[in-house]
Amino acid sequence: MSYRDDLIETDISAYLNAQENKSFLRFITCGSVDDGKSTLIGRLLYDSKLIYEDQLVSIKKESKKSGTQGDAVDLALLVDGLAAEREQGITIDVAYQFFSTNKRKFIVADTPGHVQYTRNMATGASTSDVAVLLIDARYGVQEQSRRHAYIVSLLGVKQVVVAINKMDLIDFDQSIFNTIEVNFRKFAKNLGFSDITFIPISALEGDNVITLSDRSRWYKGPSLLHFLEHVDVEKNTLELPFRFPVQWVNRPNLDFRGFSGTIASGVINLGDSIIVSSSGKRSNVKEIVTHAGNLKTAREGMAITLTLKDQIDISRGDIISSGNSPMAQADQFQAHILWMNEKELFPGRQYLLKTANNTVLASVSNLKYKIDINDFSEVAVKTLALNEIGVATLVLSAPIAFDAYSDNRKTGSLIIIDRQTNETVGVGMLDFALRRASNVVWQELEVNKLIRAKQKNQNPALLWFTGLSGSGKSTIANLLEKRLLDLNRHTYILDGDNLRHGLNRDLGFTKVDRVENIRRVSEVASLMVDAGLITIASFISPYKAERQMARNLLGDKFFIEIFINTPLDVAESRDVKGLYAKARAGEIKNFTGIDSEYENPENPEIEIDTTKVSANQASEIILSYLKDNGYLSGYNL
Ligand code: ADX
Repeated sequence: MSYRDDLIETDISAYLNAQENKSFLRFITCGSVDDGKSTLIGRLLYDSKLIYEDQLVSIKKESKKSGTQGDAVDLALLVDGLAAEREQGITIDVAYQFFSTNKRKFIVADTPGHVQYTRNMATGASTSDVAVLLIDARYGVQEQSRRHAYIVSLLGVKQVVVAINKMDLIDFDQSIFNTIEVNFRKFAKNLGFSDITFIPISALEGDNVITLSDRSRWYKGPSLLHFLEHVDVEKNTLELPFRFPVQWVNRPNLDFRGFSGTIASGVINLGDSIIVSSSGKRSNVKEIVTHAGNLKTAREGMAITLTLKDQIDISRGDIISSGNSPMAQADQFQAHILWMNEKELFPGRQYLLKTANNTVLASVSNLKYKIDINDFSEVAVKTLALNEIGVATLVLSAPIAFDAYSDNRKTGSLIIIDRQTNETVGVGMLDFALRRASNVVWQELEVNKLIRAKQKNQNPALLWFTGLSGSGKSTIANLLEKRLLDLNRHTYILDGDNLRHGLNRDLGFTKVDRVENIRRVSEVASLMVDAGLITIASFISPYKAERQMARNLLGDKFFIEIFINTPLDVAESRDVKGLYAKARAGEIKNFTGIDSEYENPENPEIEIDTTKVSANQASEIILSYLKDNGYLSGYNL
């Protein structure tokens, strides 16, 4: 390593001590593709002489091969780690770099500027104290610069450096620098930054990065490194209330019961009073146990095990908080959502929502608006698309302990996960809890589902028919209902076309409308099953997510998914209602199978191949399933 600190040779323990006590700064760099982020970080690493010699040798070789700087070292190669990225010429993931100077230690998140990689930016920003936004001096404030500034502000970064790069290409023209500063300040005035510092730089040639440059004598501020070394961010999360999500309960023997996890925010001391999120139970800290022995005090980021003075019930997923600032609990929120998936966010669809300590089911009950990045205006929308930011009401399946994101970035944030693919599709920042109207409470009725079922001497269930238009759902459902009626069963059919004449009259066939259609139908069907009826629902219901939602609402025991499997060409050749012909002619839009997708069920309880069996046979197959599984043998719930 070429870095030599004199102390290493003269007084190793003083050196280590100084290293240990240096403060930490996490920052993020963002900018559009080619704004020079990687070059800038490379420059910081290179000039602060922290590059391993051998790394340097390989980069020198690499620079000759693939660098963009002729024989000079291409500093971007230091940062753009992956070979694949190098070939594409863009950075595609968050690359964390660690470096240190005599004053401070740094972790920098280098995030891609390519538009679809906003998610990585959000990931990097959520843990950063400072954001360095790069702007190409030749182009000024671009839409992407605005988006990045907005996202870092949304993610709670308060200190921003606007590094106006490539000043060498505009001869260090002060007036251009000033114009960019004025424009940026104007647009950012409501973003809640506590401080914005503008620095004219050339990442490539090193001006004002580590030391001030002779080429911009008009500039009186600090160099970038000087700024990063001195910016005051110490207050940060240590001043926040103590929050400790319990990852596991450590019980090696009967005498020891500890709660283990990593402190999300704040500080805890022996004897401090604590409160447990879900139960509201209180106690005091008896011990703070770590691998390195017991401590008197512990703070944010440390992995510890707490023991308490009293025996109280605490389990994985609870949050232990400081006794004088308990967390609130709620199951409805207003939140800002940043959507990160090609598949849009649909109100009404169920997603998994993961917070610091918990995972629950949730859906957006009201998408209020999306934010236009150019002027921050609120735009009415039905869905949120990739990279869009919106404000929505979230309804959760169970209450969670939370803080507002503006109070605590760790306990006020959440990620949204697609239930089918398990991908992270969005991030959310909780604004505040919404109270359910207190006059709407669940009314426990004395006559319930079981009593109604018993009276009818049957086991109610929801038979969910799914399949393409013209697949034969309604025909088979109709035959089946007649057979059930013959057997003295109490039934009801909910049919797509019929409900769209009344309850769902306001809905069309866009994705959003179909999601809402199935959400309503599931609720109605659930009431019918509650009434004790064998209920048949016959809907295209093209999306797995909504069929899964219906299943969850009813519970496995009451839900039977029946896939009426008719290939598109067969359904189209039958074309009972003449709709396929119209769809092909372009007269009907969003027609399932033509220009709107259908997701096949993966594990339906029953699958009917209508190219092999007749409608009559199909209804007999379903009837046998019901018989074999005890649904028709009188009441036996
Ligand atoms: S779903 O997709 O939302 O589940 P649903 O089952 O309620 O659809 O309604 C489907 C019926 O509406 C079809 O059987 C067909 O008769 C009619 N229809 C009219 N336009 C369309 C369309 N664009 N796509 C599919 N079905 C349509």
